[in-house]
Amino acid sequence: MGTRHQHDVLIIGSGAAGLSLALHLPREYRVALLSKADLNQGSTYWAQGGMAAVLHNRDTVDSHVADTLAAGAGLCSREAVEFTVSNSRHCVEWLVAQGVDFDRREDQPKEDQREFHLTMEGGHSHRRIIHAADRTGRAISEVLSERAEATDNIEIFTHRVAVDLVAAGGRCQGAYILDQRSGRVDLFQARSVVLATGGASKAYLYTSNPDGASGDGIAMAWRAGCRVANLEFNQFHPTCLYHPRAKSFLITEAIRGEGGKLLLPDGERFMTRFDDRGELAPRDVVARAIDHEMKRLGADCVFLDISHKSREFLQSHFPTVMSRCADFGIDIAAEPIPVVPAAHYTCGGIVVDTSGRTDLENLYAIGEASCTGLHGANRMASNSLLECIVYAESAAGHIARTLPEVAAPDPAPAWDESQVTDSDEDVVISHNWDELRRFMWDYVGIVRTNKRLQRALHRVELLQAEIAEYYGNYKVGNDLLELRNLAMVAELMIRCAISRRESRGLHYTLDYPEILPEARDTVLYPPNSPLQSESDAKSA
Ligand code: FAD
Ligand code: SIN
Repeated sequence: MGTRHQHDVLIIGSGAAGLSLALHLPREYRVALLSKADLNQGSTYWAQGGMAAVLHNRDTVDSHVADTLAAGAGLCSREAVEFTVSNSRHCVEWLVAQGVDFDRREDQPKEDQREFHLTMEGGHSHRRIIHAADRTGRAISEVLSERAEATDNIEIFTHRVAVDLVAAGGRCQGAYILDQRSGRVDLFQARSVVLATGGASKAYLYTSNPDGASGDGIAMAWRAGCRVANLEFNQFHPTCLYHPRAKSFLITEAIRGEGGKLLLPDGERFMTRFDDRGELAPRDVVARAIDHEMKRLGADCVFLDISHKSREFLQSHFPTVMSRCADFGIDIAAEPIPVVPAAHYTCGGIVVDTSGRTDLENLYAIGEASCTGLHGANRMASNSLLECIVYAESAAGHIARTLPEVAAPDPAPAWDESQVTDSDEDVVISHNWDELRRFMWDYVGIVRTNKRLQRALHRVELLQAEIAEYYGNYKVGNDLLELRNLAMVAELMIRCAISRRESRGLHYTLDYPEILPEARDTVLYPPNSPLQSESDAKSA
């Protein structure tokens, strides 16, 4: 029998978004902060390049807004972009106040007055990426985790997997949570619930993301009745290390920002054939160009060359990339790095407003799980950490203002395991997991067609039926829960992709290669949406 927990605020996810939100809440609220594994195992910890912010004296909010809108290919919400960018300086100040030690310029004499060192990445027209060498995410994650651990009103639960939300009558009141150590499913109830569960790039065979990026929050919100949007826009990072033993290792875009060149196996530089901005074109353009050249030549990878920079420079700016490549016998100061594109970022997600509010009362979504409108059809590099911090603060503000008026949750039933047994066929999970990720890569990847998407839809529906049967008969475990969520989100990605009859930003299809004059979000309504009448009106 599971246990029951009561808090004021339940935060599911301990990345940049969840941790920041917890720290922004008033200290009188009792907060539960959950993570699936250890505290620092989400994507945040692995972020390399940095966080975009308007900090340079020649940079402006208008310029950052214009670059973000241009990368988003006409689909960004101007309100979300302006809201996010205008809060960027203030969020950097907050992180610095928490203790995050961003790199400072080394060419300025007075140590205590040095400005931040800013790097460049694709789509940005200024140097505006603040960073901690090439381990920015780790710096942020460690500092915020330490802060959260030292804050009395925040109770941390690790190795807990949210299974589903407790929602009724358009209102969210908690979640069922699997304790991975005991195998029990507990009931956590709270007056406000926050999904900060990250993205879903594990839906693809090749990804830069750590284990756990299985779109759990997106799937749970959908099942509970929330709209999702723009899930056809999954970003492929152009440069992940290509090596048989290197699982999910990213080669930061900041290397191209510092002059790294992309080369074919014969040494030819090719990006200028595709875009005047060369290696610093937005990611969709670079990833598609690499995919095209690899397919044209039948090559396994292309190469990224930064060997024109001194060993000392590389050591101080890219210590993580340098040492990881050295583990595989690649000396980045002397030779090019073999790279391939990989699924990296989920631009769409749970529909929210500028306070992170979803369609259900008392349910918020922030960070990569959400769709704020900031990224549109393509996220500009380093805008996501910024989005996590900005929306964490605005959602915390909304919770703080409204929580005193929110009624205590109604009693909910405990998790019922009376009808299920232990699984005797775990191979079903591993087989379906591999199959799902492979057909998503082959049919819903960088270049799509109607036929490939229809095939993927057919496959995912069969898998979903098998998974549902398994879920109904056996006790839940993390692998089964992740598979169930990934299959759900994969279906939503495919449905979004099928309904977009144009090529825009990250969604490129050979059947509709042109962009339509009017940019429209792809919004999906679940059958139990509290806004169902709006959806009926739209489809009428
Ligand atoms: P995450 O950091 O992914 O955290 C998700 C949390 O949710 C984890 O704690 C996880 O345990 C928990 N969780 C998930 N499901 C459940 C569940 N069912 N139950 C309980 N807990 C759950 N962005 C930038 O802006 N700049 C960069 O330089 C950059 N570099 C990147 C490099 C890499 C290799 C990767 C993978 C991403 C990078 N990104 C970068 C993207 C950025 O890191 C992420 O978008 C961002 O960190 C997401 O933060 P988050 O808080 O939303 O989620
Ligand atoms: C990178 O360092 O290239 C990742 C940046 C990002 O995803 O924003």
